[in-house]
Amino acid sequence: MNFQSNYSLKNLNTFGIDAKAKSFTEVNSEDELKAVLQNEKAKQNRILPLGGGSNMLFTQDFEGLVIQNSIQGLEIIEQSEKEAIIEVGGGENWHEFVLKTLENNWGGLENLSLIPGTVGASPIQNIGAYGVELKDTFVSLRAMEITTGEIREFTHQECNFGYRESIFKTDLKGKYIITKVTFRLTHSNHNTNISYGAISQVLKEWEVEAPTVQDISRAVISIRESKLPNPTEIGNCGSFFKNPEIPEAEFEKVKANFPNIVSYPASKSGFIKVPAGWLIEQCGWKGKKVGNVGTFPKQALVIINLGNATGEEAKNFAMEIRKSVWNKFGIEINPEVNLIE
Ligand code: EPU
Repeated sequence: MNFQSNYSLKNLNTFGIDAKAKSFTEVNSEDELKAVLQNEKAKQNRILPLGGGSNMLFTQDFEGLVIQNSIQGLEIIEQSEKEAIIEVGGGENWHEFVLKTLENNWGGLENLSLIPGTVGASPIQNIGAYGVELKDTFVSLRAMEITTGEIREFTHQECNFGYRESIFKTDLKGKYIITKVTFRLTHSNHNTNISYGAISQVLKEWEVEAPTVQDISRAVISIRESKLPNPTEIGNCGSFFKNPEIPEAEFEKVKANFPNIVSYPASKSGFIKVPAGWLIEQCGWKGKKVGNVGTFPKQALVIINLGNATGEEAKNFAMEIRKSVWNKFGIEINPEVNLIE
């Protein structure tokens, strides 16, 4: 076990914020994680588990212990002609894991190609893209309780998944570190989803009539590359805000004033989902820069680091956006990204 002091997190968060952790360590197994959690350093400090750092904004230095989860491994629990059940280490890179599933011709994760981050972080916000969410293939997970070092297994139901939500963002926030995740993937008769307009359009352009899961992954990669900034080139955390879900009656009132408003069915009945990117663009923020931060010119929902942004600067910029959406539409938009104070 090796603790480092005053450790720069600049290369460990995709926004590229140069925040420092008072103390830092990396773990490669559940046993190592347990030993760290039982150490005095862990007992005396606030703890922040870190995956790919793709969904967090450090607004200042972190006065505690950052534990990087680097638990690797992919184990086939069961495999048949129809399906495969696999358990994956929480420290595995999400996209590399998706590519491995496609090499094995396992289906279910192709729409989630190229999402930054790690497998262990993926259930926390129930990652989703192009009509598919993690919860669609998720079976269970193993997580270690921070205060006791005990492993607990969580079923699908116990995770309370919602749109960009799970129990790990609400009741159990900050209480567990996810060590392994189990998925059920198809091996034949793939249950593909190309309902999202952009995917079917790309496949049509490529003249692919009966797309394989690998074709769908390639289409998703090409859409993401054309619309979203690559975090290794431009610091960002993907969508900064969640798309707000508002009651139907409220939506109708807004629509009366803004007839062009874009909308989708929401995850809850009686609600309508409005794309935050549209609201933000209508307020004039698309491609706008203030100091070292701005919104991405092709997708207003993504806040980017223009060079040497501080976390505080990015947070203030985001809060200005939030305020102007509220003032124009009376709709509250809330960060999807975790603001680490
Ligand atoms: N739009 C605009 N202006 C913009 C951006 C979007 O008008 O600058 C409108 C357009 O009408 C567009 C609609 O918003 O049709 C939806 O945009 P897009 O398809 O880009 O999706 P999104 O709602 O902005 C969500 C996820 C993304 C995911 C995409 C594709 C959230 C918060 N974000 O974005 O996830 O990749 O759908 O499924 O749900 C992430 O979570 O970090 C992320 C990138």
